[in-house]
Amino acid sequence: MKEPTPKQELIAQGAEAKILKEGNFVIKNRISKSYRHPEIDKKLIKQRTKREFNILEKAYKLGISPKPALEGLDKIKMPFIEGKKLSQELENLDYIEICKIIGNNIAKLHDNNIIHGDLTTSNMIFVSNPAKKSAPTKKATKNSTINNKVVFIDFGLGFTSERFEDRAVDLHLIKQALEAKHHTIYKECWKIIEENYNSKDRANTLAQLKKVESRGRYKKGE
Ligand SMILES: Nc1ncnc2c1ncn2[C@@H]1O[C@H](COP(=O)(O)OP(=O)(O)O)[C@@H](O)[C@H]1O
Ligand SMILES: [Mg+2]
Repeated sequence: MKEPTPKQELIAQGAEAKILKEGNFVIKNRISKSYRHPEIDKKLIKQRTKREFNILEKAYKLGISPKPALEGLDKIKMPFIEGKKLSQELENLDYIEICKIIGNNIAKLHDNNIIHGDLTTSNMIFVSNPAKKSAPTKKATKNSTINNKVVFIDFGLGFTSERFEDRAVDLHLIKQALEAKHHTIYKECWKIIEENYNSKDRANTLAQLKKVESRGRYKKGE
């Protein structure tokens, strides 16, 4: 394995991957597990990198995620998103507006059969009015929040599915994450996300969410 070159900076280290910053890009580099057989390890890393890349690319086309590029068999390169990580900042921001965008984003993913799989505020970055930097249109000046974005990252547990059950579990995950990490604003935030979950299958998915919740604490199968 290559050592990071000097211009790379380690910005996050998870169980599955290292995140390196290189200029205006990040490189998500999946790491080997010494307890796995080397051949199996290589195969798993390749499969998971490819899968995350494919889902990121779809999400990028929907305007929700950074544009990914594959680098070798174990790395995804994408633009570094300059913004506020919601796990750290949600309470200090306009969380009502942000939760509207989150609800819209999740609906868009689900309507395109994408399940994020790890919907927490650690995997969301708020980018405030990116269009402001370029020439603002009349519309954008009238409503300065029009181009605010919540960029979703980390599709490492993502998959494609049309099942209401999988969509409902995705919603349940963000609901639980809000309750755990943003307790003081949780109820308000969830209400807004639910109201703005404008999926074409909204009714079915929300009905399924009730079923998921009535089963008690849902245990995420790893
Ligand atoms: N494109 C990006 N732009 C800015 N920060 C990023 C980007 N990708 C990842 N990060 C940062 O690195 C952290 C870990 O990346 P993530 O893809 O969530 O990996 P993990 O699977 O380890 O959670 C994120 O929480 C975020 O802070
Ligand atoms: Mg993450």
